[in-house]
Amino acid sequence: MSTQSRRNFLRQATASVGLVLSAPVIAGIVSGCEKDESDPTSPTGQTFPIDITKISELSAIGSISLQAVTDLNGGEPVFISRIGASTFAVFSSVCTHDGCPVDLPSSTAANCICPCHKAEFSRTDGSVLRQPLVGSATNLKRFSATFDDQTGILTVRT
Ligand code: FES
Repeated sequence: MSTQSRRNFLRQATASVGLVLSAPVIAGIVSGCEKDESDPTSPTGQTFPIDITKISELSAIGSISLQAVTDLNGGEPVFISRIGASTFAVFSSVCTHDGCPVDLPSSTAANCICPCHKAEFSRTDGSVLRQPLVGSATNLKRFSATFDDQTGILTVRT
């Protein structure tokens, strides 16, 4: 249902049951509906197998790579961080401040920096380490992931 359709529905629904709601209350209801659908890029219940053996930059513990995986994260790349021999963290590269693409760390000791307003995110889990120059950011969206040592496949789940 589009935002306009939702608004029309809510107006008609409130009118038909004789409710008298103030504009701020209606705005809050509409706003609440919009927030429920604000993350359409993450349908749940899907799995995405990624063959880690084909990503050479992830061979060492502490390494990190930026990968685009079809249909995962709305088509936007994700960071894959190798935090152990068989342990990986997968998190979005879309900045939670204003949607800019967050950069790969510039060195093996560096974290992920957003070029737009300089927010800094942990290279191991996407958590916020430094807020942007204006406003605020939250942790990068993290995805559940399990690694199969036998096959070298990392399975990411939404
Ligand atoms: S969009 Fe990333 S810090 Fe502003």
